[in-house]
Amino acid sequence: MDEVEQVLSGLTLEDKAALTSGADFWHTKAAPGVPAVMVADGPHGLRKQVEEGGSAVIGDSVPATCFPTAAALGSTWNRDLVRRVGEALGRETRANGVSVLLGPGVNIKRSPLCGRNFEYVSEDPLLAGELAAALVEGVQSQGVGTSLKHFAANNQETDRMRVSADVDERTLRELYLPAFERVVTRAHPWTVMCAYNKVNGTYASEHRWLLTDVLRDEWGHDGLVVSDWGAVHDRVAALRAGLDLQMPTAGSRPDDEVVAAVRAGELDEAQLDASVRRVLQLVERSQPALAEPGSFDAAAHHALAREAAAQGAVLLKNDTVHEAPLLPLGAGDGLLVVGEFARTPRYQGAGSSQVNPTRLDAPLDALRAATGLDVSFEPGFTITDGPEGDDEALRATAVDAARGAGTVVVFLGLPAPDESEGYDRTTIDLPANQVALVEAVAAANPRVVVVLANGGAVAVSRWSRHVPAILECWLGGQAGGSAVADLLLGAVSPSGRLAETIPHRLEDTPAFGAFPGEVGHVRYGEGLLVGYRWYDTRRADVAFPFGHGLTYSTFEYADAVAVERDGGVDVRLTVTNTGAVDAAEVVQVYVRDVEASVARPEHELKAFERVALAAGASAEVALRLDARDLSYWHPGLRRWVLEGGRFVIEVAASSRDVRATIDVDVAGEVPKLPLGPYSTFGEWLADPVGGPLLRDAGFADVPEDVTRMFADIPLAVVADFGFTPLTRDGLDALVGAVAGTGERTA
Ligand code: BGC
Repeated sequence: MDEVEQVLSGLTLEDKAALTSGADFWHTKAAPGVPAVMVADGPHGLRKQVEEGGSAVIGDSVPATCFPTAAALGSTWNRDLVRRVGEALGRETRANGVSVLLGPGVNIKRSPLCGRNFEYVSEDPLLAGELAAALVEGVQSQGVGTSLKHFAANNQETDRMRVSADVDERTLRELYLPAFERVVTRAHPWTVMCAYNKVNGTYASEHRWLLTDVLRDEWGHDGLVVSDWGAVHDRVAALRAGLDLQMPTAGSRPDDEVVAAVRAGELDEAQLDASVRRVLQLVERSQPALAEPGSFDAAAHHALAREAAAQGAVLLKNDTVHEAPLLPLGAGDGLLVVGEFARTPRYQGAGSSQVNPTRLDAPLDALRAATGLDVSFEPGFTITDGPEGDDEALRATAVDAARGAGTVVVFLGLPAPDESEGYDRTTIDLPANQVALVEAVAAANPRVVVVLANGGAVAVSRWSRHVPAILECWLGGQAGGSAVADLLLGAVSPSGRLAETIPHRLEDTPAFGAFPGEVGHVRYGEGLLVGYRWYDTRRADVAFPFGHGLTYSTFEYADAVAVERDGGVDVRLTVTNTGAVDAAEVVQVYVRDVEASVARPEHELKAFERVALAAGASAEVALRLDARDLSYWHPGLRRWVLEGGRFVIEVAASSRDVRATIDVDVAGEVPKLPLGPYSTFGEWLADPVGGPLLRDAGFADVPEDVTRMFADIPLAVVADFGFTPLTRDGLDALVGAVAGTGERTA
């Protein structure tokens, strides 16, 4: 008997019930032979509350490296870098005696309004899953665990503790679940955190289909399922559904309820044992790290945060002004820095992820240090509403200074209160004082670079055409200021790519009108058409497309081939850095299913690879699409179907910059639901077994126009008409004859 079984066998029913809820805000409970362990937020830095008993006060936590938020990490498209960030997070977690870091978050950015989008990776499940898997591998390589959250369909903050996300199964399977699936199957997170919300009417914490059928039985999750803090409303229902640990504490649903339910036969003790076993396993796997916490090098982690922030920034545009692209800047360009965010950086979001950083680099200081010049600065606006008139005066002074400057770098962004856990945004516009400033500065000086700091996409279209260069930095963490200087001055070439589309207007976004729902329900009526799947399928104009991002170099794609192999597709191409500086390209492969019998998005990202290349260098890039990458979730058969036929493989630099398209024929199945009385006349006729039988039953010589008119009529109704050769008995005979031959493949 291993140690866990031995401990389990020595526990009373009361002990076992107690172990399935927390001791306080951050600790599990101790029991005979079982120490308590501590968990802490996540996801992009450790938020370990100083007070032992478990203060919940945000900001009151030990100093820790504030790495770039998920929005910025997502834009790196760099698995190796994200794994290294994970390792660093793991080291800090371990050094602080914490056993589980509560992250990463992989919820899909359904709407740019979601207040927590800065904590999530992408609008695309492949990108979110790949990067989150790398983060989990990195953290867990240090002997501490992660908590993959928030499972599932937690795509808004409004009413998050009650709202039901009403989503059809195909949309869940293809869009909202795959990032979780990828991380669970690939990286084996120690824990998965269930969401607050309901999914199709059932709280995620009580959702047996989600927590047991899908997460454990299909995907093989072998770790623990923990509740989001306060997400459990019925302890017994939650345990029955597959939730193991309620956090933070039992609250008003004491452990006695669990004891009573077992005694009354309402909860199988074996089910409780299974949950306790997972808690014990978590405690057991935490011990080696707790015994040897080690330490971390804060300066090295700061340097890594700087590298990650630089790679997460996306150069949206860099137009030529006076015969050269405006960026990178020269130290002697007569720089003027405008915008309060240059000295008061916005670098992380609010809520449970808020880290107390070990250091904080302001862009203005970093630019001054890097140039060795006393670069002039004008605040230009107030971040929080100042006294009336303040902004006008600040703007006028900044515009005056801009007139005499060589190049103006304007730092804009969202004020901190605009983006937080707990509530959503209501607009994607920048504050009016900032829009007025950038318009006025651009009118005064043609050499303007805008640097943006925001966790979710902001609208740029109103002013972007007046501004030659825009660098989107998201919320770049504590070293973001230095990273901006590295990029603006050309020490590093930008290499980030958009992990979310930047739309022109809120009104253009997929969930507009259906976000955040009402009266307890939010209907995901746009289905699969989220993010670029929406804009590209509708051929709608966007400000900047998914996957877009410029560098200080140029890349050429050549010799792209795609060939079918073993039920999947191998893609190969050569990428060359044709510019004068070292830079990185992100090769993206999208798949278009042209012959599917169900509606599919225009195309979907199915593989990507970031390639760093020295100026003039080439590399061969190989990417693999497996059968699942070509498949869809069949809503009737309720399984993945690779429907055979022609697929278009697009090799692209963004969802709107396709460099090569290759047609590939892939063998697959012809999906069919079993024939029955309510299969239509047309479905019967088209079926290789049912068709001949139906013809033999008196429908051999039906004229073409009648066949067409009858095509959509269920066979049972044809029999009921009375005037056709088919009787009720005949129908029964036909159904009997095809029974067991359904769901065939061809
Ligand atoms: C958040 C989680 C977080 C937990 C603990 C909840 O409110 O939704 O993401 O891990 O609090 O702070």
